[in-house]
Amino acid sequence: MNYQQILSEIHEEIKPYMHLGKVADYIPALERVNPDQFGICITTTEGESFMLGDATTAFSIQSITKVFSLALCLNIVGNDLWNRVGKEPSGTAFNSLIQLEVEKGIPRNPFINAGALVLADLLLTHLPSAEADYLAYIRSVSNNHTLDYNREVALSERETGYLNAAIANLLKHHGNLENDIERVLHFYFLQCSIEMSCRDLSEAFLPFANHKYAFSPGDVNLTTSQVKRINAIMQTCGFYDEAGEFSYRVGLPGKSGVGGGIAAVYPGRYSVAVWSPRLNAKGNSIMGMRALESLTTRTEESIF
Ligand code: DON
Repeated sequence: MNYQQILSEIHEEIKPYMHLGKVADYIPALERVNPDQFGICITTTEGESFMLGDATTAFSIQSITKVFSLALCLNIVGNDLWNRVGKEPSGTAFNSLIQLEVEKGIPRNPFINAGALVLADLLLTHLPSAEADYLAYIRSVSNNHTLDYNREVALSERETGYLNAAIANLLKHHGNLENDIERVLHFYFLQCSIEMSCRDLSEAFLPFANHKYAFSPGDVNLTTSQVKRINAIMQTCGFYDEAGEFSYRVGLPGKSGVGGGIAAVYPGRYSVAVWSPRLNAKGNSIMGMRALESLTTRTEESIF
């Protein structure tokens, strides 16, 4: 498969959509990003990588971080995690409060904000130095030891993060947060603020594509079965109320972030990360979704 040629063809195909949509402006520091950027990187299980455009430019990974948090939590507490978080698609926006109230503080899945706040709480309880340990894990899995939190983005999100604060309060009310609300929010915003390029992300997602082998970057060891389950949750919940649309158009497990990034895997073959900051109404990258749709259509490689 000539992925480099395919990436060029995809880029030509989707150029007309470059100026559609707008950057996430509810996090003030993200509003300043140049919206007209596009990068993509594929890393194969055989160790090759193929890049195009702004593939080495770092951006705010935002909700993509939730996949790393899930991997860490499963590694630490195993199936006990599912006593505190569900694994069903929500069909609602990533920051919705509705189900959380009705379902008495048990988030539908680990990828909506409510679920990710529970993951952050769990990591604060179990990791000796949560901030340093989390970063060390991401540096290790992406093979890039220069990666870091962007504290300005994290603080900026806290200043306008009323909805996340409401979610955290509701979780606390129902006894599903052990740590102090401010600590949990701060750690969650820091996780979201990590900056990575498409190249870093596709490297970091490769273990999810290589699920036949033990997943052991750094000190994290997940079984083949656990990796299968993380991919299943990406497939059903990775795009919130657009999970069906992503599944229909792309047909790969993946996870989006409001920084405009999407990481996805074709198990057994490759991981791919794409980035373009302009988002659709559901908070997912317009060019990113189009690029991945074109990739799986052209290569006829998808899980379906
Ligand atoms: O909590 C938030 O709203 C952001 N830090 C992350 C949201 C996000 O990336 C949703 N994904 N598409």
